[in-house]
Amino acid sequence: MSVRRSVIVGCGSYLPSRVLTNDELASKVDTSDEWIVQRTGIHERRIAAPGELTSHMATQAARAALAHATVDAQSIDLIVLATSTPDNTFPASAVSVQAELGIVHGAAFDLQAVCSGFVYGLATADGLIKSGAFSRALVIGAETFSRILDWTDRSTCVLFGDGAGAVVLEGQMEPDNREGRGILTVRLRSDGRYKSKLYVDGGPSSTGTVGHLRMEGREVFRHAVAMISDVVEEAFTTTGYTAKDVDWFIPHQANKRIIDGSAHKLGISPEKIVMTVDRHGNTSAASIPLAIADAVADRRIKRGDLLLLEAMGGGFTWGAALVRW
Ligand code: ACO
Repeated sequence: MSVRRSVIVGCGSYLPSRVLTNDELASKVDTSDEWIVQRTGIHERRIAAPGELTSHMATQAARAALAHATVDAQSIDLIVLATSTPDNTFPASAVSVQAELGIVHGAAFDLQAVCSGFVYGLATADGLIKSGAFSRALVIGAETFSRILDWTDRSTCVLFGDGAGAVVLEGQMEPDNREGRGILTVRLRSDGRYKSKLYVDGGPSSTGTVGHLRMEGREVFRHAVAMISDVVEEAFTTTGYTAKDVDWFIPHQANKRIIDGSAHKLGISPEKIVMTVDRHGNTSAASIPLAIADAVADRRIKRGDLLLLEAMGGGFTWGAALVRW
């Protein structure tokens, strides 16, 4: 028997050229390379150039994904852009990407689930493709967190970076067995009781300003591993797979300690972890597609591999996906 699945047929990424090292940060705020590396695993991050917007980076990543998939932009009928740092309050940055790509049909919209945005975006596009309403989608994560950081707050400004990643999802009939490719399940969660643990202190309806990111890092850390493990176990239960079946663990890249802790709790061996936080920092919704593109470019990920994606972030929101590449 075969089933309609959303298959990832291409991926791509974009990073701004400007590298900001820990040592450079230490010359601006009271921190050190040693503290940042020990607590987070981050060595450097990228910062968007003045005038370089989220939609610009998203478009570059989308073009790379289209080229990798060897499909034409005109065949895309859905664009889901996960971001918490859109170019403007509205319209959605996704429509700027759509216009840049010369697409005048189909639908494009932004999705806001902070660091879990890409997993939420995959779930949304997957549902729309499986329903038959759309046939080929771009799911993009793109962020310019550098624009919402308080650069005098050492407890947050050292953690984040800018960038974009994208995948092309295509509706295909696949065998309904362990060989069948595509998104096998996406599990989403949120709990608004934690909204004040990680938030931006401004917005169109509250202050009329963009605001700055605020975080109780220790509190986020305290919940992260348990929430991530919980939703991943849910994905395993739904599909019948276990940690042993996973070829590549591609987590949201917030902090090396959270990633290592989650892998350990789930029983995933360290060599299966795709880690980019050292070079990218936390790029929020962009981190998972950036990591996928990295591991595809260096040929770690091969056709037929089972990928486990997970993320947790502001809200709190969290989620996990199992994907047969
Ligand atoms: N340099 C030097 N010292 C620092 C820095 C810094 N950059 N930042 C904080 N400190 C100090 C603190 O002031 C504190 O000093 P004190 O003990 O004198 O008060 C000390 O270091 C310890 O601070 P903690 O916050 O307890 O440090 P912790 O070990 O928890 O590490 C960190 C902080 C890295 C933020 C960690 O809590 C973390 O990673 N949290 C999770 C963040 C995360 O995963 N976010 C994901 C979601 S992001 C999103 O959704 C947008």
